[in-house]
Amino acid sequence: MVNLPKPKVLISERRIRKRVAELGKKISSDYKNKKLTVIFISTGAVIFASDLIRNISLPMQIDSISASSYKGIKSSGKVSVDARLKVDVKGRSVLLVDDILDSGRTLKKIIGLPKREKPAEIRTCVLLDKASKRDDTIRPDYSGFSIPDVFVYGYGLDYDGYCRNLPHVAYLED
Ligand code: IMP
Ligand code: MG
Repeated sequence: MVNLPKPKVLISERRIRKRVAELGKKISSDYKNKKLTVIFISTGAVIFASDLIRNISLPMQIDSISASSYKGIKSSGKVSVDARLKVDVKGRSVLLVDDILDSGRTLKKIIGLPKREKPAEIRTCVLLDKASKRDDTIRPDYSGFSIPDVFVYGYGLDYDGYCRNLPHVAYLED
């Protein structure tokens, strides 16, 4: 059995639900006249994306790209990506959805991949933004919460492979 920490709540289920509804409403209005394709980055964004898309009241296509950089609870620094898309994004407005923007390495790498397929535009949406940790070369177009530089898990994010099913975002104290 793995030894899991006692979750300390950083962002409650209620706050997440409220913020995700706001993001969905904003995206619905911004993409009203566009052909929307949501591409979420698995595994971490799977829960956020599934809640977000149900708050977007527009026709859309959905696809996913899988990426990983964390080994255990430390980033390995290397990002491995499987970006084989199943939908055709040519001429469409792509919204990339990820769980968290940390160093920005993952999104920077991923953003270049659908570009080859000539979408009309690509924007990014993350639930969590560790903004203080980063230079300004990448900024999400939509962000749920700015958070301090702590290790977080739950609501899709894992603690060494576990805890993705927590309904809230928890954090580890140093
Ligand atoms: P970046 O490439 O450093 O921006 O890291 C982004 C990816 O690392 C995210 O998509 C997450 O999967 C993972 N990650 C970054 N910070 C955390 C964290 O605090 N907890 C869990 N996963 C994280
Ligand atoms: Mg991820």
